[in-house]
Amino acid sequence: MPKSTKTPAKPAKRAAAKSAARNTDSGPSEITAALFDVNSRKMAQTQDLAAAMPDNANKTAEHGFANGVSPVRGATAKPASRLPTGSTLSEDNRSDKTGSVAREGVNATIDSLDRVRVDSSGRVLTTNQGVAVADNQNSLKDGVRGPVLLEDFILREKITHFDHERIPERIVHARGSGAHGFFECYEALTDITRAAPFQRAGKVTPVFVRFSTVQGERGSKDTARDVRGFAVKFYTDEGNWDLVGNNIPVFFIQDAMKFPDLVHAVKPEPHHQMPQAASAHDTFWDFVSLMPESTHMLMWVMSDRAIPRSFATMQGFGVHTFRMVNAAGESVFVKFHWSPLAGTHSLVWDEAVKISGADPDYHRRDLWERIESGNYPEYELGLQVFSEEQAERFSFDILDATKIIPEELVPLRPVGRMVLNRNPDNFFAETEQVAFCTAHIVPGLDFSNDPLLAGRIHSYVDTQISRLGGPNFHEIPINSPIAQVHNNQRDGLHRQAVHRGRVAYEPNSLAGGCPFQAGAVQGFVSVPARQDARDEQGKVRAKPEKFADHYTQARLFFESQTPVEQDHIANAFRFELSKVTVPAIRERTVAMLRNASDALAKKVGMGLGIDPLPDPLPLALASPAEPEVTKSPALSLLSRPGDGTLKGRKIALLVAPGVDGASLSAVQAALVEQGAVARLVGTRIGRMPTADGDTLDADASLENEPGFLFDALVLPDGAEGVAALAQDGHTLEFIKDQFRHCKTILAFGASRALLAKAGLPLSMDKSHAQGGSGLVFADAADAEAAAAEFIAGVARHRHFGREMDPPLI
Ligand code: HEM
Repeated sequence: MPKSTKTPAKPAKRAAAKSAARNTDSGPSEITAALFDVNSRKMAQTQDLAAAMPDNANKTAEHGFANGVSPVRGATAKPASRLPTGSTLSEDNRSDKTGSVAREGVNATIDSLDRVRVDSSGRVLTTNQGVAVADNQNSLKDGVRGPVLLEDFILREKITHFDHERIPERIVHARGSGAHGFFECYEALTDITRAAPFQRAGKVTPVFVRFSTVQGERGSKDTARDVRGFAVKFYTDEGNWDLVGNNIPVFFIQDAMKFPDLVHAVKPEPHHQMPQAASAHDTFWDFVSLMPESTHMLMWVMSDRAIPRSFATMQGFGVHTFRMVNAAGESVFVKFHWSPLAGTHSLVWDEAVKISGADPDYHRRDLWERIESGNYPEYELGLQVFSEEQAERFSFDILDATKIIPEELVPLRPVGRMVLNRNPDNFFAETEQVAFCTAHIVPGLDFSNDPLLAGRIHSYVDTQISRLGGPNFHEIPINSPIAQVHNNQRDGLHRQAVHRGRVAYEPNSLAGGCPFQAGAVQGFVSVPARQDARDEQGKVRAKPEKFADHYTQARLFFESQTPVEQDHIANAFRFELSKVTVPAIRERTVAMLRNASDALAKKVGMGLGIDPLPDPLPLALASPAEPEVTKSPALSLLSRPGDGTLKGRKIALLVAPGVDGASLSAVQAALVEQGAVARLVGTRIGRMPTADGDTLDADASLENEPGFLFDALVLPDGAEGVAALAQDGHTLEFIKDQFRHCKTILAFGASRALLAKAGLPLSMDKSHAQGGSGLVFADAADAEAAAAEFIAGVARHRHFGREMDPPLI
């Protein structure tokens, strides 16, 4: 291809060249000069740029296996100036709106959220077109008492926008709460991965996390018995990585083909749309009892894990097996675990049910308040790293999402910590519009062949196209990465990027080849081993044989629980199945449980009046492989008591006129010192006199903050105050719930009478015998020592020694 000639031209030729350069619909056979004016310069430089790429230099590199695993970097040519790659020569004519020319190599739609934050201090009210609104009280009428006019564009804009404020909620995980934070890497993991967050010790990557329930609608209660979503978006400097996990490391099903069935079964039944945010109904148990692979997951969901005390006190898991890939292209398998520093703590069922009435936002509020008060939730990221050879020797299949890898088999390697330290400015803009997707991974990570994961890789983007109104939701500020975004995707609903230039295809020469493919050194390359797996003999709809072992790990989980936790699991099955209206479904479930634990099946059966027990369900795999581990203590919630601090715990100190103020104030100060939220809960809110001539200001009342909302209780001394509390039935309910839910209670002096009046079976309290101080009795004069004992008791979270089934009170 000839280059443009730079020979000086005669005036006639110059005029011809100038006029040729002013057309957009044809051009001359030869570009003669570049210097006459900006149009002809652009034309000449465009010709030179195209000529610099006489052919597609990388075409041969598109073929063959070696190129497939190590693609080359795209070919490019540098333009002589920015002229040939621009859309228009008028781009220098700036205005307050157009601003300046696009910065070279920059996509201005991505950046920190600062670019979209809005603060209206000192500003007048305007329409969406920026027109100041003179009157925001009245619509425009034909006369003071006349009809409203269609002309009122201000009214119509306001109402129209309001009419469209809601968007579809997520099909699952609709109820959620989010927070910003950061991930900090402990040490470089370059030996196993080139993923950006793990490249050096101390490296910090911003994150946004959304916790959720699965079944309920957007406005449903937080404390439903349910799996919790634990989705983390890492804004890495090599693109967004979403670790979209749950607080339970296994799942109900093994293949995405069954996901719509599972969700249809657990959601409110379609004829009457009940129950909301609950799995305790016919269709759920009908489905799972016909899907014995769900048994392991059912053990977890019936355990206290499904009713966490707080998002800050639950674990998170990536669930599937993923891969990590180092710079040399070598890969290992990996499982991701988040462990809360505050320990793993849960509610008890009676408490969860009551909380859902008094405060359906219990977890959302807890997360918000922890962050506002500087008690930042913190989690450690641990990896289970193992090789393909190890995986082949396991008694279970690592592609099966109903299986864990016991920590005894592959220990956890702590690799970093995540701290949630900033609440969103706006729930809708951030928490509602955030779009997580398992397909969002970065170089250094890859998928395994888990068939459940494969379905997820498709599903999230697909659903978000309708939830977030088209294909450009990656441009919504909370979703846009901090890494540069450059590609040839264009248009679609709500497009924000204003692309400079006319090239939206690759290969091209008119933009010097840009944006060009990154090649293996910088770009994402799939691990080829996935195609090599030896058991892929052709196209089949089938499962590997080990997937048919449905019970070994369900048994492992149950056997690894403490007796208290086992009781809670049995009680949860009893409760859920008692809500099932069809006896055959109950019996089928108990028959399924028999394969995991006869003791559990017996206990559940007894609670449901099923006697004798039905025969166990037939096994899909007659002789499963011997498990490597039959007990794994790490599976017990109680194995993670946490750092022993009281950070974020809510403690009630009851007050009424005439209580002893000094002892309460001393305990309150000691609790606040420990990071607890110690609230004065009164017979009413407001100031009340104390016996010692002071006043205390109750910021909550027995009526508006019932006892089950608190982690522990302090009862005051002072005969007059205690008598006033005794007159209020709420006090006794408060105490009963605290006792029934196994919480620490400190009773000063005269308030011992309140415990007796509430009818607590104190002789049955075994918390002292078990080394804890579940009930602390003290004189007001010993407030300091009492506070220390009380704090030690609260740090133990619960005193299950006093739990009774059924409860005596
Ligand atoms: C291991 C199994 C799974 C886990 C851990 C999981 C986790 C999650 C989480 C945490 C969310 C909420 C994300 C957010 O906060 O916005 C979510 C949403 C969702 N999940 Fe899953 N999920 C699993 C299985 C599946 C499967 C098998 C499918 C479909 C084939 C699926 C489809 C969806 C969809 C459609 C959403 C809603 C996404 C949106 O509207 O933004 N999930 N999932």
